[in-house]
Amino acid sequence: MKVTYIFVPIVTGLWYFIYFSTFTDVKPIKVKMADQLLLQHESTANPQNASLSPAGNKQTELVILLWTWPHDYRFPLDRCLPQYGISGCHLTANRSRYKHADAVVIHHRDVSSNISLLPQQPRPPHQLWIWFNLEPPIHLSNLHLMDNLFNLTLSYRRDSDIFTPYGWMENVSEPENFTIPIKSRLVSWVISNWRPSDKRVVYYEELRKHIQVDVFGRGHMPIPDSKLLTTIISQYKFYLAFENSQHKDYITEKVWRNAFGSMAVPVVLGPPRANYEVFLPTDSFIHVDDFPTAQDLAAYLLELDADDERYASYFSWRMQLQPVLKVSWITHYCKACRALHQKHYEKTVPSIERWFI
Ligand SMILES: *[C@@H]1O[C@H](CO)[C@@H](O)[C@H](O)[C@H]1NC(C)=O
Ligand SMILES: *[C@@H]1O[C@H](CO)[C@@H](O)[C@H](O)[C@H]1NC(C)=O
Ligand SMILES: *[C@@H]1O[C@H](CO)[C@@H](O)[C@H](O)[C@H]1NC(C)=O
Ligand SMILES: *[C@@H]1O[C@H](CO)[C@@H](O)[C@H](O)[C@H]1NC(C)=O
Ligand SMILES: *[C@@H]1O[C@H](CO)[C@@H](O)[C@H](O)[C@H]1NC(C)=O
Ligand SMILES: *[C@@H]1O[C@H](CO)[C@@H](O)[C@H](O)[C@H]1NC(C)=O
Repeated sequence: MKVTYIFVPIVTGLWYFIYFSTFTDVKPIKVKMADQLLLQHESTANPQNASLSPAGNKQTELVILLWTWPHDYRFPLDRCLPQYGISGCHLTANRSRYKHADAVVIHHRDVSSNISLLPQQPRPPHQLWIWFNLEPPIHLSNLHLMDNLFNLTLSYRRDSDIFTPYGWMENVSEPENFTIPIKSRLVSWVISNWRPSDKRVVYYEELRKHIQVDVFGRGHMPIPDSKLLTTIISQYKFYLAFENSQHKDYITEKVWRNAFGSMAVPVVLGPPRANYEVFLPTDSFIHVDDFPTAQDLAAYLLELDADDERYASYFSWRMQLQPVLKVSWITHYCKACRALHQKHYEKTVPSIERWFI
């Protein structure tokens, strides 16, 4: 099965698309994404016009110190300008720059075991400490040790001082033909941390009684090379984007890279549907909560499997939007730098724990 869409602009703002050579009127896709979220990402989306002049402080290059390499993972630090068009950032992981750093970004998991892992030298005046975390609350410990130390938060929570999600949508600039890859299989799932009591595992155990689910990852079918992940998933119509725990705004690369990046329709388990709809078009995903039981979900997936046109409707948002998948560690540090250029911050977070948990 190969479905090709050809999008033809007729007049500004009005689109038609050819579906199996049939002209079909397309309703505008309603995306409930809050405007400020879109705006926040625009300058990232358009590198050619996104260079930022620091407000009232035009020539300043900010020194941003990575207190640790996150999870000891290393990457080039000079990518903010070429990759995101964000200028005025000097990122460094060299602690001897501490005294001169405008901000120190501290990745929680790397310091949470012992408060002595935090900077011990006196803090230079005006230096900001930024609490950085992409993990859900259940994977964090010792948050109370961070009381009254940090000035800003950098995380996937929308109400962070600096919001940095795992992915986002941007408008397509040019109408593009896209092809739904040939789908020879039905449902796939990649899971590395199998805990039988996790909601996602419990749900899967029920779902698999009613529909074939191919499971990859540790203890299951191997993925020979992580580069092949999207190739493998793209053969499937549906991908179980099941989060390891359910928390506000905790919507991860399982949806962005694994599902959208593979052109598979995500079946999500995480926060409630309304939370997903802040970030994703309503008709881009299937939520387990849409069905009273896993059996009902299985029946629905089988129905879609038998109806190419309805299945394809889960892709129609791609006429107007494209998922941004290029998010990597450096993205988050560049966003921190951009935020500091855009705004003068003066605050202390009394309790990260009270806010985040
Ligand atoms: C780029 O930025 C300049 C200066 O801020 C502005 O005048 C111009 O309209 C922008 N161009 C686009 C394409 O947004
Ligand atoms: C760190 O910075 C110091 C002083 O700026 C410099 O002497 C040293 O070579 C740097 N270390 C590394 C690993 O770049
Ligand atoms: C934290 O680290 C310090 C210094 O390395 C050590 O003396 C102390 O015992 C550690 N505390 C804990 C709770 O591990
Ligand atoms: C996408 O385009 C629409 C109208 O064409 C506009 O209202 C919206 O703000 C744009 N969104 C982004 C992310 O640029
Ligand atoms: C889309 O595909 C059609 C036919 O396959 C082709 O004629 C057209 O030029 C393509 N349009 C774009 C924007 O690539
Ligand atoms: C940052 O937080 C520290 C620790 O509470 C505080 O002493 C300092 O004044 C804060 N800095 C700014 C610029 O708000």
